[in-house]
Amino acid sequence: MSAVLSILATRLSDAVTAAFGAQYGVLDPELRAATRPEFGHFQTNLALRLAQQLPEELRQPPRAIAQQLVAALDLTGICEPAQIAGPGFVNLTLLPSTLAAGVNEPIAFASRGERVVVDYSQPNVAKQMHVGHLRSTVIGDALCNVLRFVGYDVVRQNHVGDWGTQFGMMVEQVLFEGLAVESLDIEGLQQLYQRGRKHFDADGNFADLSRARVVRLQSGDAETLAIWRQMVEVSLVEFDRIYAQLGSPLTRAEVVGESAYNDRLQGVVDDLTTEGLLTESDGALCAFLPGFAGRDGTPLPVIVRKSDGGFGYSATDLAAVRHRVDELAADRIVYVVDHRQGLHFQQIFALCRAAGWLPDGVRAEHVAFGTVLGTDGKPFKTRDGGTVRLAWLLDGAVARARALLDERHGDDGARTVGGGGAGSSEGVRAAGGMDVATRAAVAGAVGIGAIKYADLSSDRINDYVFDLDRMVAMNGNTGPYLQYAHARLSRLLAKAGEAPGKVTVLTEPAEQRLALLLSGFDDCVVQVAETLQPHRLCTYLFEVASALSAFYEQCPVLSSTGETRASRLALCAATRDVLQDGLNLLGIDAPGTM
Ligand code: ARG
Repeated sequence: MSAVLSILATRLSDAVTAAFGAQYGVLDPELRAATRPEFGHFQTNLALRLAQQLPEELRQPPRAIAQQLVAALDLTGICEPAQIAGPGFVNLTLLPSTLAAGVNEPIAFASRGERVVVDYSQPNVAKQMHVGHLRSTVIGDALCNVLRFVGYDVVRQNHVGDWGTQFGMMVEQVLFEGLAVESLDIEGLQQLYQRGRKHFDADGNFADLSRARVVRLQSGDAETLAIWRQMVEVSLVEFDRIYAQLGSPLTRAEVVGESAYNDRLQGVVDDLTTEGLLTESDGALCAFLPGFAGRDGTPLPVIVRKSDGGFGYSATDLAAVRHRVDELAADRIVYVVDHRQGLHFQQIFALCRAAGWLPDGVRAEHVAFGTVLGTDGKPFKTRDGGTVRLAWLLDGAVARARALLDERHGDDGARTVGGGGAGSSEGVRAAGGMDVATRAAVAGAVGIGAIKYADLSSDRINDYVFDLDRMVAMNGNTGPYLQYAHARLSRLLAKAGEAPGKVTVLTEPAEQRLALLLSGFDDCVVQVAETLQPHRLCTYLFEVASALSAFYEQCPVLSSTGETRASRLALCAATRDVLQDGLNLLGIDAPGTM
């Protein structure tokens, strides 16, 4: 909690204790941002809740309770005298000095001494990454940044889909065609898979060979493993390319694919058997857990070993939980995977709890997200129903951003035009004259930032429409809008020609509002770390940028003088820092010019 909020909470609690007794002092004041400027900065409904909870003999109308509360409330040096409003709300207005302190003294988070394991991105070998993997990567990166910021030790795990029966078939098809796998790219692998599939369905003999090949793969046959490894390598090269283009920090070091758990799968079965948690059903080994049933009441099993003796997706995830808890010492495990796998993860978590592999103190969370839709409202696909190539998508966004920059700055790429033209405030609008290299870098930051921000800015559980025009728009709740607000501040500060000091003057409502918002940055990030909902940070940054526009309109900066000028510059610098830190937490670059 920000320093201001926690001080207010303590003072309120002291007042409640003094006026009504310690048993009520523990009530959460539920401090909320005031809904209108005339209500001050924060509001609490403590008096209304007390009115319901106090025993008969102390019971009074809420307004009377509010009066007693306010009488006992010591806000010296923090707030103006508290006001009572409506049926008994208590409104609090911070003193300018309190607001200034909130901006001047941001919180530094200490290490929590806790580790969070984040399972995200998770593309599949021999398949193009699709927009679902893009979402997982973008959301996962943002959450890792946020979790680290608030003091977690973050361990990234890229649970790549690199294991399973299809690889037996593919290896067999490689041998059949006498193919050199290393000469293929990911698209070539995907086509190999399709040829293998056809072959498998049409030719019983080939199907048998494929099945035998799976067994050889899983038991470590050298030739089979070598071909499989090449397929993995070709795929990882492609994934690395996408991560680089996306600016994701994911590397080979975080790849811990499904295959990594192969040696632990039998142990999973053995231990579940010992615990009496497995039942044989049609030749498969299943766990039936209380509370998991289909709509018609039929129990839904976790299939731990299939009837052909093979292990599937669930077995791997069970082994992965054990690895994360026992070896990685996770205090919290987070899975960034699309919402359709919700049931799978609820079952895995429940079974791991039942088996004692996931202690009560270790949180396990499925960070579910919705589907990316095309402008036609259907799942985003190419015209013929194929996977949209991510590299193409990202290139397209960067090209669009580049075109917009060229429009703004002139398309010769190196024009040098002076400061802002008509309509610009104080000549700090991003002006013409951006050299070719800068322009390319900025286009990259804006194009990729636009895609990421669009993905992060709506509640992740919702579907969203992939609409490049909207994503790169310079107004509205978009990445480029926030990047522009940041770049404009950077220019203004450069122009000011003096190092910003501290915020000391906060007289105008617009500057007070901005300062109040800035002091809430840490609270917002903590909330995101708790709820794992990055859109809260986006909404917050958008509010900051909007408050900044109002501030520009009402409070001249460069043309003001003396302490006012110095303080406003400091407020601008603090705003720039929050926008920059916030965007960076989201995995988005904040260029100094746009
Ligand atoms: N590779 C899977 C897919 O593309 C997602 C894996 C999610 N993570 C996990 N631990 N199961 O759908």
